[in-house]
Amino acid sequence: MDKFVIRGGNPLLGTIRVSGAKNAALPAMAAALLAEEPVILENIPQVRDIETTRKLLAAMGAEVELGYGRAQHRTTLCCRNLVSPEASYELVKTMRASTLVLGPLVARCGRARVSLPGGCAIGARPIDLHLKGLERLGAIITQEHGYVEARAERLRGAEIVFDKITVTGTEELLMAAALADGETVMQNCAREPEVADLADLLNKMGARIEGAGTATIRVKGVATLHGAKHRIIPDRIEAGSFIVAGALTGGDINVAGCEPRHLGALLHKLDEAGVKTVHNADSVRVISDGPLRAADMETEEYPGFPTDMQAQYMVLATQAEGTSIITENIFENRFMHALELDRMGANIKIEGSRAIVRGKTPLSAAAVQASDLRASASLVLAALVADGETIIDRVYHIDRGYEHIEEKLRGVGGQIRRIGEILPKRAVAPAVRA
Ligand code: UD1
Repeated sequence: MDKFVIRGGNPLLGTIRVSGAKNAALPAMAAALLAEEPVILENIPQVRDIETTRKLLAAMGAEVELGYGRAQHRTTLCCRNLVSPEASYELVKTMRASTLVLGPLVARCGRARVSLPGGCAIGARPIDLHLKGLERLGAIITQEHGYVEARAERLRGAEIVFDKITVTGTEELLMAAALADGETVMQNCAREPEVADLADLLNKMGARIEGAGTATIRVKGVATLHGAKHRIIPDRIEAGSFIVAGALTGGDINVAGCEPRHLGALLHKLDEAGVKTVHNADSVRVISDGPLRAADMETEEYPGFPTDMQAQYMVLATQAEGTSIITENIFENRFMHALELDRMGANIKIEGSRAIVRGKTPLSAAAVQASDLRASASLVLAALVADGETIIDRVYHIDRGYEHIEEKLRGVGGQIRRIGEILPKRAVAPAVRA
C-alpha cells in the first residue's frame, strides 16, 4: 500500500492542470453498452475507477482500449459482442458506480445481473431509487444472493418522480429510457453537470433527450443508438480541491482547464471566506494574500455546495479566524476526516450532521489514514499547511479519483512524494558460532 509523505509550509505557485471528470467518465463508459458501434471518449482521467470500469466492461465482452498520452486521454469502447451482462461483487465492492451498468444492460440485452454494492464508508447508500425507476420502465427486478437481476423484453417509457435527488440514479434511468419504447418524463432529477454531460453523449449517439441539467428530463426512446465521439467535461471537484489548496497555502496558483461556471457555489463561499479568485473562460486564479474568515457552509445538491468538497472546505475552515459550522445534508456519515484533522491539531466537534470548526489552529504533521476518496484529498491539503512531515496511509483511496495528484502538486511547489509500503526489515539470524 502506497503512502504520501508531505512536508508542509510551501505556498503553491504556478499553473496546475485539471483532468477530465471521473464522475462524468464513469457513466459515459457505461453508456457505450447501449450501442453496437464504438464510442470514443476523450479527456478520460487516468485514475483507478476508470481502470475498474474497464475491467467491468471487459468481463462482459466489451473491447476497451485505454490510451493515455500527453495531449489526450482517450478510450475507445466497442460493445458489439456482449457475452455476459453481469457485474461481479469483486468489482462492485471496490466502486459503487459499477451499478451504473444495470440500466444500459437491461435496455440493450433485456437482462442484467449486478451485485448489490453493500456498505460504504460515508453512510448507507442504497440503490432503491434506481431499482424503483427501472420497475416503472417495466423491468422485473429480483434480488438473490447479494445480486440484483433486472429483466425486460423491452423497456417502456413512463413517468418517474424521484423521491430524493440522486445523481447516479438519474444517470441510470436516463440511459435505460434512451432505448425504451415511448416517452419517459423524469422529475426531481439531479442537475449536476455530469448528468448533462451524459445526456450530451447520449444525444450524440442518437438519443432524444431534453432538459438534462434541469429537474425535469424528457426522453423520447429510440430503437437503437450508434457510435459517437465525445469529450468529457473537466473535473470540478479536482479543480475545487486545487483552488482550496491555493487558498490554504497562501500562494498564487492558476487552476487551468476547468469550467468556472460549474464551481459557482464553491467560489461564492470562498469569496465569503476572504479568498480572492479571478475567473477566465477555462481557468481560475487563486490569490491568497489575506487572512481567512470563518464562513458557515451546508452541502446541497447541485447547484449548491458539493458534498464532494465538504472535507476540503473543512481544512480551510480550520485555518480561518472564527467558528465555521459545516452541515452535511447529503450523506449521514461523511465526517471521518474530522478525527484525523483533529489529530493534526484542528479543533472540530461533530454534532450529528454538523461539524463545528473553531479556527484558526495551527496544524502539525502526523501519521494519518485516508478513509475515502474526498477525505484523503482533505488530508493532503491539511498536510500542505501543517508544520513538519505528514505521512498519509491508504492513498489508494485518492488514486481512485485524482490523477497523479502528487506530480501535479509538485509542479506548483508542493513537497509531496509517494512511497511504497515500507516492509519491516527481515530479521537476520545471528551468526552461529561453531
Ligand atoms: C454521486 C457521486 C458522488 C457524490 C454524490 C452526491 C458519482 C459516481 N458519484 O454519488 O461522488 O458524492 O453523487 O453528489 O457520480 N440515495 C437513496 N437511494 C438511492 C440513491 C441514493 O436513498 O437509490 C441517497 C443516498 O444515500 C444519498 C443521496 O441519495 O444520501 C444522494 O446520493 P446520490 O446522488 O445517489 O449519490 P451517488 O449517485 O451514489
